[in-house]
Amino acid sequence: MLKYARVTGWGKYLPDKVVTNQELEKKVNTSDTWIQTRTGIKERRLAADDEVASDMAIKAAKDALAVAGVKPEQLDLVIVATVTPEMIFPSCASLVQHAIGAKNAAAFDLNAACNGFVSAVSTASQYIGTGTYKKILVVGSEVYSRILDWTDRGTCVLFGDGAGAVVLETGDGPAGFLSFNMGSDGSKPDILYLLGICGAPANKVDDNHYISMNGSEVYKVAVRSMTKSCKKALADAGLTINDVNLLVPHQANKRIIQAVGKKLGLNEDKVFLNVQKYGNTSAASIPIALCEAVEQGLIKDNDNIVFVAFGAGLSWGASVLKWGTGR
Ligand code: UT7
Repeated sequence: MLKYARVTGWGKYLPDKVVTNQELEKKVNTSDTWIQTRTGIKERRLAADDEVASDMAIKAAKDALAVAGVKPEQLDLVIVATVTPEMIFPSCASLVQHAIGAKNAAAFDLNAACNGFVSAVSTASQYIGTGTYKKILVVGSEVYSRILDWTDRGTCVLFGDGAGAVVLETGDGPAGFLSFNMGSDGSKPDILYLLGICGAPANKVDDNHYISMNGSEVYKVAVRSMTKSCKKALADAGLTINDVNLLVPHQANKRIIQAVGKKLGLNEDKVFLNVQKYGNTSAASIPIALCEAVEQGLIKDNDNIVFVAFGAGLSWGASVLKWGTGR
């Protein structure tokens, strides 16, 4: 029989440094009014100069393990979803695995940009479902401040740094992940990209290692794909929109989130929002949001929680989680 992957632990880490919209007004030609009206963002956190993705991941991971009551050496696997690791290899996951003392765990990074967390929990759940592994740590950790062009008002106001983590453990149901829906359309890589360091020299067009984005194009795909993905994941779980207790979406833009909620027919009180405090923290946004939803008492046993995300690729994914730690 296939096993269910339960979420038994959660943790988050946000760097101390707060950067408000007013501070960005001094750097680029923007305004607090424009940023709040178009995105809902009021402020974001930025990593300290000596802080890297693995530092933040380790802090979120330790909190998640403490909540789960899982010892690091009990972990079978560590997955870190990130596109901003301090090193391409070794993986951020291997650095985290060593730092937390997960000496019996395998480790790898997963790159699906802002869709990284949903992709990573989906991957982890397959290992649990088949009985291959019993305890898995999934972390999203991002330092987008290092890949932003701080003179480009179209991108620098949108993102922030942070990390979130969950522990997944085997359960016999009914709590656990019930379904996943994933998709990708790689036909327009130019609407959201970050160049790597290994492009063919003959084709090299520039040395720009900053995010490049056509925001309005991404916006349209985001609303369409997230709505569709949620509907498919719910249908696969044998549920309808009326069964959803809380949508925990990728926090990129309040307007995108509200548009998805509206298209799905969900009341606003069933859609979790914290983009105003942190901006878009990419693969970290959903686990950070989940932690805050739990802290705010918004999630109880047997609730149906839906995670949904989209990001560069373009790629998207949704998953339905019946909440219950088994404790
Ligand atoms: O997780 C995946 C990552 N990507 C995203 O989440 C991005 C998804 N897209 C969006 O969130 C929205 O498209 C944005 C917030 C990026 C932009 O909002 P929009 O309503 O689509 O605005 P727009 O791009 O159509 O730009 C409207 C105007 C333009 O000026 P003109 O051409 O109308 O004169 C922009 O140049 O707003 C201007 N603009 C700004 N003005 C003040 C763009 N950025 C700024 C800014 N401050 N920061």
